[in-house]
Amino acid sequence: MSVRAKSYPLTPPIAAPSILSADFARLAEELAIVDPARDWVHCDVMDNHFVPNLTFGPLIVAAVRKLTPAFVDVHLMIDEPARIVPEFCTAGADQVTVHFEACADVTAALAAVREGGARVGLAIKPGTPFAAAERYLAELDVLLVMTVEPGFGGQAFMDDMLPKVRDAVAWREAHGARYLIEVDGGIAPATARQARGAGAEVFVAGNAVYRERDPHVALAVLRQAIG
Ligand code: DX5
Ligand code: ZN
Repeated sequence: MSVRAKSYPLTPPIAAPSILSADFARLAEELAIVDPARDWVHCDVMDNHFVPNLTFGPLIVAAVRKLTPAFVDVHLMIDEPARIVPEFCTAGADQVTVHFEACADVTAALAAVREGGARVGLAIKPGTPFAAAERYLAELDVLLVMTVEPGFGGQAFMDDMLPKVRDAVAWREAHGARYLIEVDGGIAPATARQARGAGAEVFVAGNAVYRERDPHVALAVLRQAIG
């Protein structure tokens, strides 16, 4: 039986520090800056196949789950995620996001997340148009608009992704959908403000939090920028 966050923030704006940029030798301290009442913890899972980088799997997600009561937001950058989704759910993920481009059967992958009891997310890479996600939007809890090519932290924010955020706002309004709009990649106070202006609601930030001299202060500055 998986353990999940007992209560968590779903009201935007939400900051989601990405542990990809954290010091894993000090993971407990790095996670301690996250405020479970306000923030999410973002976990980037990479398979060296869908993206040219390799990170961690359910074992580390289970460790994160033990270290923080905060909402655990798992971003799967892996090919054919459906078969391993249940393990992330069991590890305690509160939300699991799969990539549109990684799934032969997107509906089945989303169903695997739902069956695992986690909130359901779908991510689109920069080259994927918003329209590609449309047929799945009604069943999503979160749409993740990538604002860099997935695979690495520390890349420059692509402001030409902002029209997708605006499209996501308009579609939700027109169809009465419920998904939150998350942005990921190159998010720092200035770019977060830009994305917020376009309608983004959840702001993933790796380097802008964990590679700053004082991550605690950096997270406070990010919260202020989106607030
Ligand atoms: C990139 C990951 C991001 C990454 C963002 O593929 O999905 O979550 O941690 O890092 P920054 O904020 O440094 O661009
Ligand atoms: Zn991510």
